[in-house]
Amino acid sequence: SAPIRLGIAGLGTVGIGVVKIIQKHAELLSARCGCEIVISAVSARDRRKNRDADVSGYAWVDDPLELAARDDVDVFVELIGGDHGVAREAVELALKTGKDVVTANKALLAMHGQELAELAEEQGRVIRFEAAVAGGIPVIKTMTESLAGNRISRIMGVMNGTCNYILTRMESAGLPYETVFDEARRLGYLEADPQLDVGGIDAAHKLAILSSIAFGTRVAFDGVEIEGIERISIDDIHRAADMGYRIKLLGVAQMTARGLEQRMSPCLVPADSPLGQLQGGTNMVVIEADSVGQLVLRGAGAGEGPTASAVMSDIVELARKVRVPVFGQPAGSLTRAQPARTAVP
Ligand code: HSE
Repeated sequence: SAPIRLGIAGLGTVGIGVVKIIQKHAELLSARCGCEIVISAVSARDRRKNRDADVSGYAWVDDPLELAARDDVDVFVELIGGDHGVAREAVELALKTGKDVVTANKALLAMHGQELAELAEEQGRVIRFEAAVAGGIPVIKTMTESLAGNRISRIMGVMNGTCNYILTRMESAGLPYETVFDEARRLGYLEADPQLDVGGIDAAHKLAILSSIAFGTRVAFDGVEIEGIERISIDDIHRAADMGYRIKLLGVAQMTARGLEQRMSPCLVPADSPLGQLQGGTNMVVIEADSVGQLVLRGAGAGEGPTASAVMSDIVELARKVRVPVFGQPAGSLTRAQPARTAVP
């Protein structure tokens, strides 16, 4: 059938990762999609920058808004990042001009996912965002597809690899927070605004996205109680270890009699549990559901290959013409989805 035509906005680590997969696996992808995946055009801030993939064969557009509005694009792939400004405008314009959207933008979805999903619904388009949560771990498709026959009762997880790196490194090397924080910065692990990582905000964005899918509620980042890792001392870590525990920045979302409870905070977890064993920059998501029981998903939560892998899963799904909305799925319609209430702490 007709090819699926992409416009890719943002050629950073993830964007280039996606281009490489499309180039490397063209045949495999065509066979799996039943159609060819074609990149019509790309946009990025700096046209002359040296990149790890050849993008000279694609039309170049300087302005992502122009890319979003092009009529040779079926799917707008937003890999710019940031919760406002051009990323948001471009996604809105793409939906309004009849494109489906694939994005890895956790901040955008946590802050404006509800409005964007409603706009998509109005326009008869869909937004896909597997890469926005836990990088390469296919947690969204696990919930919406593989667990479609379940009622999910709880989601827990370590969803920020940088915090997990800092906490595990403090313990293994016996180093204070400040030293390991500087090390993480030198290694390029921290977001441009490090507070997003160590303040628990990035992880809370991801938790808010997951819980809205799991419980069919509005995306409610405001409803997440957040505490970061900045005040965790090496003494705290040693005391926890003496009692057989580790400290993890853990997200928990569950539906209680008082409403949806969402928390992202440093927690003690048994050192010999799957969460306690999680080392370095890895992510883990634990899902508890009525029929399947407990599932533990572990993998790389960031990086070129893993994040591009998740973006590709969305592109392939759209190429296969799977166009069911993800947000608001359990209630059948976003506008009818029940509002999220925040539990009294
Ligand atoms: N800063 C994030 C992390 C990147 O460390 O997990 C992936 O979202």
